Order: sequence, then structure tokens, then C-alpha cells
Amino acid sequence: MNQTDVRIADVPGPRWPPLAAFSPEPLGQPTSQPSQNLNPAVTLVNVSKSFGGRTVLQPINLTILEGQKAVLLGPSGCGKTTTLRLIAGLETAEPGGRILLGQRDVTRVPVEKREISMMFQNYALFPNLNVFDNVAYGLKIRKIPRAERESRVRELLAMTRLANYADRGVSALSGGQKQRVALARALATRPRVLLLDEPLGALDAALRVSVREEMDELLSGLGMTTVIVTHDQDEAMSLGDVIVVMREGRLEQVGGPREIFHEPASAFVAGFVGGSNRLLARVAGDYLLLPGDIALPLSAIKGDGIEAGIIGPRAFACPVSVYFRPDKPRLAEIAPGRMSGKVVSSRFVGGVTRLVVALEGGQRLKMELPGSAHVPSGSTVGVELPLDELKIFPETAALAS
Ligand SMILES: Nc1ncnc2c1ncn2[C@@H]1O[C@H](COP(=O)(O)OP(=O)(O)OP(=O)(O)O)[C@@H](O)[C@H]1O
Ligand SMILES: [Mg+2]
Repeated sequence: MNQTDVRIADVPGPRWPPLAAFSPEPLGQPTSQPSQNLNPAVTLVNVSKSFGGRTVLQPINLTILEGQKAVLLGPSGCGKTTTLRLIAGLETAEPGGRILLGQRDVTRVPVEKREISMMFQNYALFPNLNVFDNVAYGLKIRKIPRAERESRVRELLAMTRLANYADRGVSALSGGQKQRVALARALATRPRVLLLDEPLGALDAALRVSVREEMDELLSGLGMTTVIVTHDQDEAMSLGDVIVVMREGRLEQVGGPREIFHEPASAFVAGFVGGSNRLLARVAGDYLLLPGDIALPLSAIKGDGIEAGIIGPRAFACPVSVYFRPDKPRLAEIAPGRMSGKVVSSRFVGGVTRLVVALEGGQRLKMELPGSAHVPSGSTVGVELPLDELKIFPETAALAS
């Protein structure tokens, strides 16, 4: 497929609804300008779900604002699709739970009357229909007059750069084109809320980034309130104004991408929202004891766990996990009292050099240095930890043992 095939942004023609409806301000992120639109689009109040007596979704509370793109992120089986299906009306919430779309309580409203569209992971296109008829399907069902149907479908095909494919059977399309047909079909009924379950999951890795970018531009331009399910952290970060991290049927943290990335609320979020270093350590008295018997005075550390009083001087030999991003530690001279280790891997990857350092005691540390740094494998290096960037959480696994 050539590049022009997958671009959407430069499509001329009307956009709907007006751009003014788009709220670019992510929830939970400090911004200099107030959000343009704080109207709730989707509200879940104490929504839970059980299947056959097994609770798969604990009572959750969540508000998604108009025009926001919210991403449900979490490992397989944590309840993402179930949450999406509850919003769609494909599942019924347990008694006591309420679902609102705008101000309207839709808890008992059937799926076809909720003004939502859902796009499924495998796209579920009708194989016997061509592109035009796939996109027109929902409009036909709703008995929209032919002329309006035609003009809406043409508009959507232009928006998704499918105008030249209207008559083609969907089985003769590439993965990226199928994805755009599914998106156009989901948008055709002008839903108030769009629900996308793993919208890029069926695409190969090479296509994912370009399709993700064009989808993001399209949805942002339309000001479409969208709930997107993914288990991919990169996807979540690049698509979400707000990210909802889920774990075992619970909401672990809700916040903007920066907040989730830099201020993880739990060890789970720090570990799941990729790439962090995790070192097992101990708090003893006034010190954090790191691998190699390195003792750092707690008073010098501004880590969250300490500020929140989760751990403190009174904790004796309390096992903890210490999280920090690979770009935070610095190389330093080898010196008494400073952490050191052997470089087991050193790779230049364009702008940065990535090191893996084996610390005394066997734990490994990932480091990301400027691309100009040249540190050969096999060398021994000193490492200075970022004392004001450490996230420290009690080590529950170790505590249990
Ligand atoms: N209809 C059903 N009947 C019984 N159990 C179900 C049903 N649907 C989902 N579950 C269970 O509920 C839990 C959550 O499932 P869900 O599909 O919401 O997970 P998910 O986060 O979307 O996972 P994945 O990333 O693998 O798609 C799982 O343990 C699943 O087995
Ligand atoms: Mg799922």
C-alpha cells in the first residue's frame, strides 16, 4: 500500500460535528488553559458485572467528558471489553449500577437506542457487501432516506480516504483499509460515543503506527467522545486524553498520559506502564538499602512512597520495590557507597544508547544515555540513582513470603 493510501488528515470537505466540540484538555493533567468542555459524556456509577457468580468487574465509578478519548488499558482478562460492552448495552450491569450517556440514564435502555457505536477487534465487516454498503448498513437499518444515506456515506468515505473503493468487496481490501471501513461504518450513524475494542489489534506492527495516527487525527478533528480498549501501553499513551488503568476488574489509576507515566499510583501501574526499572530493596531504619549494600538516607529521597508515609523510618527491614525510568540514572565514577555493576549490553539505537547493567547481587538495571555515550559491554560502571525521581512501593510479594 502506498503512503497516500492511508492518510486522512488532508482530506478536504466537511467535518462533523463542528471542531468547537473538541476538548483538547486531557483529564487529570495540569494545563494552563481550562478545558473547553466539561460536560460528562459517559458516567459509570457503581457499575459491576458477574458471570455465573464470578465477579469480573468490581463496582467502578468513571466519568468521561465530551470530546475526550479515554483508553481502557490493562492486561488480558482485567475487564476492559466487559466495561465497553456494558457502556454499549451488550451486557447488563448488576443491580445498583447506573450508566449515563450525557444526562440520560441508559442503564435499562437497549443497545440500539443508546446512540453509541462499537467497533469490534476483528471489524466484523459483512463479507458479502461492498465498502459502500458496509458503511451504509446502519443507516439502512434506521431507515434513513436514500439521498441522505448516499451523501453521508460519501462524506465518510472521503474522510477515511476510501472514496475510490466504494464498489470494492471488503475481502479485497488491505488490513488498514478494512480498519477504515469499520471506522466509517461505526461513525455513519453519528453516535454520541464511539467504542473501539482493540481497534489496531488486527493490524501488523508496521501498519499500526500510521493507522493509529490517522485514526487519532480523524477522531480528534470530529471531537468524538471515544472509549478505546487496548493492552498496549504505547497505543494508550498516543491515543488517550485520559488513561484508565485496570487490573482484575478494578480501576487502578485514572489520569492523563503524563500523570500515569510519571506519577504511577501503585507498583502495578509503575510496572505495567512500560519500561520502568524495578529494583528490590529494603527500608531499614532511616535508610534505603539497595543491591550491593548501598545505603541511601531516606531524608535524601523524595520518592512518593516516603512522602505518602507508606514507608518510613519506623519500618524495619521493610521490603520495597523501587521504580524509576531508564533515562533517569546517570553514569558516575566508581566510588565507595555508590552503586556499581557490569555492562552486559550496550546498544546504540539512533538518538540514545541503551545499557543493561548487572548489579551486585544479580539485579539488572536499564539505562538510557545520550546517543553520543560510548560504554563498551563488559566494562564496570558506577551508577547514580535519581533520588528525586524514585517511586517506592511496599513489596507485597516479598511481604507475603
Ligand atoms: N460472557 C462471559 N461469560 C463468562 N465469563 C466472561 C464472559 N465475558 C467475559 N468473561 C470473563 O470476564 C473476565 C474479563 O473479561 P474481558 O473480556 O472483559 O477481559 P479483557 O480485559 O477485555 O481481556 P482481553 O485483553 O484478553 O480482551 C475474564 O476473566 C473473562 O473470562
Ligand atoms: Mg477484551
